[in-house]
Amino acid sequence: MTIMMISFLIQSSALGLGAVVCPRVLKARSSVERLQVACIGVNGMGWADLSSVGSHSQVQFVGFCDIDSSRFGQADQKFPGVAHFADYREMLTQLGDKVDAVIVSTPDHMHAPAAMMAMNMGKHIYCQKPLAHTVWESRQMSLLAQKRNLTTQMGNQIHSAAEYRLGVKIIHQGVIGKVREVHSWVGVQGRQYNNRIDRPEASVAPKNVEWDLWLGAAPERPFAPDVYHPFKWRDWQDFGSGALGDFGCHLLDPVFGALELTAPTSVVAAHSGTNNEVWPGPETVTYTFPGTKRTAGSSLQVHWRDGGLMPPRELAQMPDSMELPKAGSLFLGEEGVMVLPHVGMPMLFRNKQSIKDVALPNVQAGNHWHDWVDAVMEGKKTTDGFDFAGPISEAVQLGNVAARFPGQALGWDTLSLKISGVESANRLLTKTYRAGFEVKEVV
Ligand SMILES: NC(=O)c1ccc[n+]([C@@H]2O[C@H](COP(=O)([O-])OP(=O)(O)OC[C@H]3O[C@@H](n4cnc5c(N)ncnc54)[C@H](O)[C@@H]3O)[C@@H](O)[C@H]2O)c1
Repeated sequence: MTIMMISFLIQSSALGLGAVVCPRVLKARSSVERLQVACIGVNGMGWADLSSVGSHSQVQFVGFCDIDSSRFGQADQKFPGVAHFADYREMLTQLGDKVDAVIVSTPDHMHAPAAMMAMNMGKHIYCQKPLAHTVWESRQMSLLAQKRNLTTQMGNQIHSAAEYRLGVKIIHQGVIGKVREVHSWVGVQGRQYNNRIDRPEASVAPKNVEWDLWLGAAPERPFAPDVYHPFKWRDWQDFGSGALGDFGCHLLDPVFGALELTAPTSVVAAHSGTNNEVWPGPETVTYTFPGTKRTAGSSLQVHWRDGGLMPPRELAQMPDSMELPKAGSLFLGEEGVMVLPHVGMPMLFRNKQSIKDVALPNVQAGNHWHDWVDAVMEGKKTTDGFDFAGPISEAVQLGNVAARFPGQALGWDTLSLKISGVESANRLLTKTYRAGFEVKEVV
């Protein structure tokens, strides 16, 4: 990866540009009427992704992969006869050119190994949020998608919700003036699905679970019931990404979109303590971004809070009778405030009054999954491709590096992908991969 490549990627992202994706699929099959899709992770969010993509009339599934053989039921019932696999590497190798596009809906630690393999084979990707498990992986995902000219979409579907789109337009229309500061918050916290901070006793995986494949790139550890697979992997640093990783790519999406943010220049986290195993309880993460044409000054602070921590209510300039939503973002502008609930209609305030004298733009919701399919079929770019989503995922995972050094400000140089201030934090920008699941650097 060269500085020039990174610089180009960042500039493209900042300008909302990016390569126009050539219709690879259409070219490859002259009379193509179907997009042949393989799915990695078919239950949990994988089912939501699969059924939503599968409701597009031009989609045909050619492979279902899940490490747990008990979890194919819904997928098989709705889309019978699709070949099953436990190992995505076998699926992609065996199906080869039969696959045009891949959905990756595994736990976070396996997004990049699976998606990068598929992208290296020229497959278009729909990948769940956060795009990847580390800052370095997030960068590689964006670089590879751009290098291979692929049509990609991160699976933060509310990017396409009318409420979030409207929030972005309101800022772009200048209704609250230039933005001075942002606060985003969510109720959940990093460690909440297991009531534990240390590893459980070893147990034997049930026959239906391919534990070694579930671990994938992560360091080896024994199976234990009801603490990792399914869903509860979120709490653990080796597999999940904390509350910031779980919700940051949702909540910060309209913040990046509205303010055209690129990469922060520094980040600092605060919480009551954690260890090397699990993510912290309630935390705050404060980012400083370079100012943009949408912001009031030469820099902008974005304050993240989770686990029930809320911004001071007075900042919202709401009438006394109103409360902040349980999750959302607060855009403090020079001429008013926008409260953007997660996910709800934007509310505008000034001096404890609702701002009423504005004509709000008419905004339609998109179908995040179908928009990706259409873009692949038409050789176009999506609005939430890895050029846009990669920097959000990088910021989120940079916050998770800061969480391991609470109270210490980390300076961030996005071009060289380096932290200053706390040298040892650089090690956490990436991780070590178990053999067979490595992610190759894009050169
Ligand atoms: N966009 C959203 O609103 C949303 C909501 C929930 C989860 N997610 C994201 O979706 C992803 C999955 O989360 P979840 O809650 O569904 O997790 P989960 O553990 O409940 O489900 C994951 C599924 O993938 C399978 N799987 C695990 N490792 C695999 C591998 N290596 N290869 C193939 N299959 C594998 C599991 O057996 C399971 O069926 C995560 O990245 C999460 O952040 C997004």
